[in-house]
Amino acid sequence: MCGISGIIGSKNISGQLLNSIRNLEYRGYDSCGMALNNGKGISVKKNVGFVDDVERKEGLSRMGGKMGIAHTRWATHGSVSQANTHPHLSCRGDFACVHNGIISNYRALRESLQKEGHKFLSETDTEVIPHLMEKNFESLKDVEKAFVATLRQLEGTFAIAMISIYEQDRIYCAKFESPLILGLGKDANYIGSDFNAFIEYTKTAVILDSGEYAIVTGDSFTVKESLGMEPVEKETINISWDVEMSKKGGYPHYMLKEIYEQPQAIVNAMGVDREKIREIAEAMARSERTYLLGVGTTFYVAKYGQYCFSDISGCFLPSISSDEFTNLAEVDEKTTVLALSQSGETYDTLSAVRFAKERGAKIAVVVNVIGSSLSRLADYTVLQGSGPEICVISTKAAVSQMVILTRLAAEFACARGKINESQRDEIEKNLLQLPETIQRMLNEKSGFIHTLAHKYSHIKNWLYLGRGIYYPVALESALKMKEVSYVHAEGMPGGFLKHGTIAMIDSEHYAVVFVPPKEDKKLFDLTMGSIEEIKARKGFVLGFYFNSLDMNNDLFDERITLPSINAVSAPFLQLVAAQLFAYFTATALKRNIDKPRSLAKSVTVA
Ligand code: F6R
Repeated sequence: MCGISGIIGSKNISGQLLNSIRNLEYRGYDSCGMALNNGKGISVKKNVGFVDDVERKEGLSRMGGKMGIAHTRWATHGSVSQANTHPHLSCRGDFACVHNGIISNYRALRESLQKEGHKFLSETDTEVIPHLMEKNFESLKDVEKAFVATLRQLEGTFAIAMISIYEQDRIYCAKFESPLILGLGKDANYIGSDFNAFIEYTKTAVILDSGEYAIVTGDSFTVKESLGMEPVEKETINISWDVEMSKKGGYPHYMLKEIYEQPQAIVNAMGVDREKIREIAEAMARSERTYLLGVGTTFYVAKYGQYCFSDISGCFLPSISSDEFTNLAEVDEKTTVLALSQSGETYDTLSAVRFAKERGAKIAVVVNVIGSSLSRLADYTVLQGSGPEICVISTKAAVSQMVILTRLAAEFACARGKINESQRDEIEKNLLQLPETIQRMLNEKSGFIHTLAHKYSHIKNWLYLGRGIYYPVALESALKMKEVSYVHAEGMPGGFLKHGTIAMIDSEHYAVVFVPPKEDKKLFDLTMGSIEEIKARKGFVLGFYFNSLDMNNDLFDERITLPSINAVSAPFLQLVAAQLFAYFTATALKRNIDKPRSLAKSVTVA
């Protein structure tokens, strides 16, 4: 996820442009830059770091020009470096581009442009755009025609803004899936990834649709459709959001926004190259032992992974909380450690990995932050590509890691000869259905979950129960409840209940039970057994279950019914619903949602 911006006006716009990317910084903040046409040509300034760091280093706001584009980056293609920072230029510096999204055919385009003599300065997919512009302009001698010809050569999902030296009074921009909008001001017009780009200057906006491009001047704009170059009538809208809220894209909290970004995070996790997954799975399959590591939420994700490996391959790969790893694990050169970390900077996980590395273990990591310390220690790195997770409470990064672990488990099972390739493909096919089903569930169920959470927000203690792979779901769901609402919630295996805790159950006791799909008969029957035990003692049961269940509803005091789907996807749906339940409980209790007390996004101390 990156932020793009463009401004064209009657006065120098560099200060406004800088402010614009400052307001887009939550979309990506590893590096940023600006390109302005100052009447003599295009000047570019860019560097790594937060927007304010780059301003200090480069003096972005002191650049001259009435037309410019800018970008704040969350690296996907290529490391965090000045060369990879946008904007990117054509060989002669006559076209400059910024881009958000992924150009999936960039390798082929790059190779053929290189054969024709184009020199590339970065590792990004973006850089093909200015080079294609240069090439197409040479033959078509018309910027608009060259822009459309370039768009037609690009595949993937992207939003682009582009300036040239040939037309000093207009910015071109285009949208294919990735967000892009126009802002119409008094003295200037604007382009942005979202309203934050210009909400301080204008609240009048035009939303571009996928497949459209726009030509924006200081006092006009034209939208056309990319294939036929036919003009499109656009409606203007008035933005009623305040500046602070719009940074969260209209959501009251980053947590809710990030919960809603989970379908996209899953799409991105499914986009991780199969070769990369296979390489790690094969290294694990060759090892004598593999440990799955993480701490907090990522430990629960590791535990989910443990069940996945066991369910799919029949192999036992223990999960260990990173902070306890050195007290437990036997490590040598026949060991592989698979460490999970959203930030890649968590002290407990870093020190466990260092401990293993010193003893000769192979290190594989799944991280969300490119260039993080953990990935620098690793032999193999999977970048999960979930985009910035700003809320201190992890949601989308965890769900994305669960997807990657499921894919790894399937590939591992293949490498060990426990399943064949078509069984692996079936698992991936099931995962591919997830984004749409989760989106539907979010759309259909969040109102109901909101009501339910508010109704029970006075409850001081919850017991969260699950069996098999639903046990880590219970653990992680309970953690969400604790950390965002400060309400006590204890996660436990359903079978464990009768070994002590059951003494607490009476009519004052509240339990959440994660019921597996009925097709998973053994786990389902055992889970129903736990519910019976609670009901026999007059305890309260909130069931998270699937709508294929034709069951005795009297067992539940309340229920959240989830869309019926395959077994691979069931834990994901339950976890996302439980995230919402925790979030709405916390809003009812008026908690500090995005920055709960005593927490930090990345815990870098022992
Ligand atoms: C909970 C949460 C924490 C982190 C933990 C590890 O919502 O965010 O429990 O999961 O601090 O952080 P990472 O994944 O960055 O290593």
